[in-house]
Amino acid sequence: MKVLVVGSGGREHALAWKIRQSPRLTQLWIAPGNAGTAQEGENVPIAVDDIAGLVAFAKKQKVDLVVVGPEVPLTLGLVDALAKEKIRAFGPSKAAAQLEGSKIFCKLLLRQADVPTADYQVFRDADSAMRYVKARYPNEKEKTPLVVKADGLASGKGVIVCSRREDALDAIDRIGRKNEFGKAGAQMVIEERLEGPEVSVLAITDGKTILTLPPAQDHKAAYDGDTGPNTGGMGAYSPTPVITQELIETIEDQILVPSIHTMKRNRKPFRGVLYAGLMLTQTGPKVLEYNVRFGDPECQPLLMRLQSDLLDILEATVDGRLNEIDPPVWDPRPAICVVMASQGYPGEYENGRPIRGLDIAAQMPDVKVFHAGTTLVDGQVVTNGGRVLGVTALGSSLADAKLQAYTAVQAIRWPGAWCRKDISDKAVQYTMNNVV
Ligand code: AMP
Ligand code: GLY
Repeated sequence: MKVLVVGSGGREHALAWKIRQSPRLTQLWIAPGNAGTAQEGENVPIAVDDIAGLVAFAKKQKVDLVVVGPEVPLTLGLVDALAKEKIRAFGPSKAAAQLEGSKIFCKLLLRQADVPTADYQVFRDADSAMRYVKARYPNEKEKTPLVVKADGLASGKGVIVCSRREDALDAIDRIGRKNEFGKAGAQMVIEERLEGPEVSVLAITDGKTILTLPPAQDHKAAYDGDTGPNTGGMGAYSPTPVITQELIETIEDQILVPSIHTMKRNRKPFRGVLYAGLMLTQTGPKVLEYNVRFGDPECQPLLMRLQSDLLDILEATVDGRLNEIDPPVWDPRPAICVVMASQGYPGEYENGRPIRGLDIAAQMPDVKVFHAGTTLVDGQVVTNGGRVLGVTALGSSLADAKLQAYTAVQAIRWPGAWCRKDISDKAVQYTMNNVV
């Protein structure tokens, strides 16, 4: 089977690495890929938003399956364009990808499906949004627990969590007047701010059958103790004790099943990965957002634990026969992924720093270094992005997995490299709080 993976992050390296283990694979390309994916298959220099280029390549090479990593090509309709050429692709159609591409679409779907989520209002201009905030919180000094969100895709930056009224007004100004997020900010959502631990539940679905993956937890804040600016994710681990089996069943019944069912009823059947970003509130789990793809970095520890053939699962999803395959087998051992980042990330940073020690880390058992922002220059791996590597390890316990991952991190260096030191500590804190 000939496979093309689309994307260039840690998630796509993990997908390529796992797909390569399938005995059914004959050829693997990654577009555009990174220095890590170049070791799993052949990189092809086509950008993820070059829909025509990707389709032409898949057609020319007679690709059997295209696996789409990031949201941008999904919302641009890559899967639909490939379908026109009779090329199978893993990922939702353009219409179904609106679940991530438009926060308003997502909120309407959640409301229609009666799925718990934060109360919200939609605004088309800054003036009416500001009037709403001032009317709801007439006292300037009063706490203002609101979240202001640009409707469209903004690389995770279009969500502004506010505590004070002036923060909310400033967020509206940035989205609606300064147009910081361009077209993505043409409409905005203002919703109540929820409280509680945040978890990700990912499910693979063919639109009928739902295969919920083991729960994972991301670390979105840049610095230890969940402080500092928001990032794409500084590390993840799986499984997380924050979600019990009982809670997974509640999430399936109250959230995943009604959402997928309603998408089908609306003639926008969802196929691919449905990623629910959830907050576990006092009144139960509520949806913060849906993504329509694997999470990055959640994908890395998840795939490290997957023992079944990923190609079988992806293919069954695309063909609508997920009910026919054996349930996937997961390594019972936990896995953690520590993201090593460039100096300055999530702000400005410089590329081109040579990375040393990858050979030492490659020798360590149960460790896999997934590349994200890397490229090859004259045979040397150099940094080429904010999130550079996802150092991932399995361990007999979470503490052991953490030790393995950080031991590998210590072997790798480049000027300015840094990482959070507390990935997976949330699990320990959570377990302690719940035992005491
Ligand atoms: P989103 O891209 O919608 O997931 O938002 C990014 C981050 O903002 C989430 O991971 C949460 O940490 C936070 N967030 C989004 N919506 C809310 C909400 N209603 N209440 C509290 N935090 C939120
Ligand atoms: N880890 C968060 C995301 O993939 O959006």
